[in-house]
Amino acid sequence: MTKLLLSLHVLAAIIAIGPVTVAASMFPALTRRALAPAATERDHAGLRLLHRICRVYALLGITVPVFGLATAISLGVLGDAWLLTSIALTAIAAAMLGLLILPGQQRVLAGAAVAPRRLGMLTGVFNLLWATVVVLMIVRPGSTTGA
Ligand code: HEM
Repeated sequence: MTKLLLSLHVLAAIIAIGPVTVAASMFPALTRRALAPAATERDHAGLRLLHRICRVYALLGITVPVFGLATAISLGVLGDAWLLTSIALTAIAAAMLGLLILPGQQRVLAGAAVAPRRLGMLTGVFNLLWATVVVLMIVRPGSTTGA
């Protein structure tokens, strides 16, 4: 059972967080192009598509902590420091995505004056946060259960 839950957890992380990482990282550069005088309708269509990928896969990404918690309960490691740290970092990353990055992209699409650099910085921090969580998941510092 634990193996199934862990497989679903890792599968969800790959399928959901991967596309968000790529699409969110491409968004600021395309914003710069879409704001330039030579911008075309294709640039704007591209921005809408990238935002849609971020939004849809962010929702799918909710399954990552769901299967993660199920795996943790099944393994009996819910109180471990590495896991509590991961949960906190995951919560911060999710809040950044939901409260800052996605609304920032929406403001770009609505034509509001935005700084692509700020959006790029937020996305970079988001990517670093979940990359840190992956390292914690694999290294599990302080864990005495398994290698
Ligand atoms: C609430 C958040 C999370 C919880 C409770 C959680 C829980 C867990 C647990 C219990 C394991 C099993 C570790 C073991 O084998 O002893 C695991 C493994 C793993 N998790 Fe998470 N996780 C969370 C978030 C994430 C996120 C955001 C990612 C990636 C973006 C992620 C990626 C992975 C990976 C790649 C593994 C496999 C590591 C390995 O077995 O070597 N997890 N997670």
